[in-house]
Amino acid sequence: MGEMMPSFRRALSKLVTLSCMVIFTAIAYAGPSNRAPIPSHLNGPTVGLGSPLPAVEGNSSDLQIFITGQTNFQEVDTIPQLGPVFNGHTSCAGCHLQGALGGGASINEIRVRDNQQPGPVHTFAVDSAGFNEPTSAGCAVTDPECMLSHCQVHEVRVTGYSTNLAACDPSSAQFIGGSNCLTGRQTLPVFGDGLVEAVDDQTLVALSQTEPEATRGTAKFVTEVGSSQSRVGRFGWKDDHATLRGFAGDAYLNEMGITNPDHASEVSECAKNDPGLETPPNAEPEDPTDPDGRADIDRFADFMRALNPPPSTASSNSPGALLFAQVHCADCHTPVLHTSSNPAAIIPASTGGVAISASLNQALSNQTFHPFSDFLLHDMGSLGDGITSGAAGPTMMRTVPLWGIGVRTTFLHDGRANSVANAIAGHDGQGKAASLAFGQLSPADQQTLLNFINSL
Ligand code: HEC
Ligand code: HEC
Repeated sequence: MGEMMPSFRRALSKLVTLSCMVIFTAIAYAGPSNRAPIPSHLNGPTVGLGSPLPAVEGNSSDLQIFITGQTNFQEVDTIPQLGPVFNGHTSCAGCHLQGALGGGASINEIRVRDNQQPGPVHTFAVDSAGFNEPTSAGCAVTDPECMLSHCQVHEVRVTGYSTNLAACDPSSAQFIGGSNCLTGRQTLPVFGDGLVEAVDDQTLVALSQTEPEATRGTAKFVTEVGSSQSRVGRFGWKDDHATLRGFAGDAYLNEMGITNPDHASEVSECAKNDPGLETPPNAEPEDPTDPDGRADIDRFADFMRALNPPPSTASSNSPGALLFAQVHCADCHTPVLHTSSNPAAIIPASTGGVAISASLNQALSNQTFHPFSDFLLHDMGSLGDGITSGAAGPTMMRTVPLWGIGVRTTFLHDGRANSVANAIAGHDGQGKAASLAFGQLSPADQQTLLNFINSL
């Protein structure tokens, strides 16, 4: 939280409101100077990451929608819209930055097993009551030295968080005995997610039905805000959302504390009577739908939906690809998926009722793509994160897509693995047989397979 400068309380009077955001200068997507700075520790290919789909690039009005969304995605939000509790980053880009805007990160959010309030523990809380400003806004709940603010105390109480909790292992005796525990969730990249959103539910259900019994995945049905339909979840570590608008509304509230058309109430009312820290009730949602029919959450979705998949140098008939299938990685990490013939029928309109353009609908329809995921939940045994999220029980995790993995530096839901080989070794439950089969390959074959994965 280096950006929380001592002067930040004084800056409150100068805040721009969220509805003014459209006046920010549009930042073109292309060209290295317009991309988020690439952290120097990255070791993989970054060229082409963060670009729009080629068809969007070639359509000026779709490209403008993408660029406006990209601008909003990296815009920094400020108090009193931000918070009262948030996860330590003040823009979507603050976490989604690895390789390019829209990437993942080793940034973990924290969850507690059996928390009474679903959703992450917000590691920062904005609050001045009883504390010397501005330090109360500047330390994390997870820092044992942090003198908790009023809002942080509230957060700890409703989630059952404590710095003493052990990491969740759903196969442990303590877990089975009912002890609370902690888990981390690494930030997931959103490259190519528009294609994922455009896959018909039936495609994913059919996939689960054809997978080998021993590794068969489960489709999790979710109902998004504003819809009465039950849809197959495909985003997040536990398949919590089926649509990008759904995820964006959830993230704006739960990561950043910003109420929006899909989530009109604050996560916590801990700052309710402090006008310096919270918007008045009649100013909710803090992110309104603007006259053009879009709120920020719609613009975030516009940007994510039009992002191209990560560039890949893999070939489907290379020795690495054959090994990948041979040791049954491909049973869950599905190499090929197809989008719907009419994605507009399943992609929700904006909060103000604006449907995706006919040209974007065409760009997303009947596409073949290579996510290396079935987007289904699998019983991963001791690798499970211990959290129950709807139909996703404590050991159930979504197959994480492997495309673009070359820019990642830590792996698995909580980042416990520092190499792809360690991530494979961590597979348990339905993934155990494949992990053992990988271990039995010759060192040369293992390297061929790892090289293949890094090229996806
Ligand atoms: C504090 C860090 C943080 C911030 C800020 C943040 N995210 Fe995320 N994002 C995450 C984490 C962690 C996950 C994985 C969450 C999970 O599945 O439990 C994630 C997952 C996602 C996913 C799912 C991607 C996939 O392919 O499954 C989307 C979409 C997303 N975020 C969008 C957003 C948007 C839009 C914003 C801004 C409103 C945002 N995020 C802000 C950390 C963050
Ligand atoms: C039964 C389904 C299944 C099989 C089989 C499987 N995986 Fe996975 N894989 C998963 C799931 C689920 C995750 C996410 C687990 C987590 O972190 O909780 C995952 C995660 C990974 C990751 C971490 C990626 C990241 O970005 O964090 C890698 C790498 C990986 N798998 C490679 C492989 C390889 C290589 C094989 C074959 C040897 C394989 N997997 C077999 C389901 C499977």
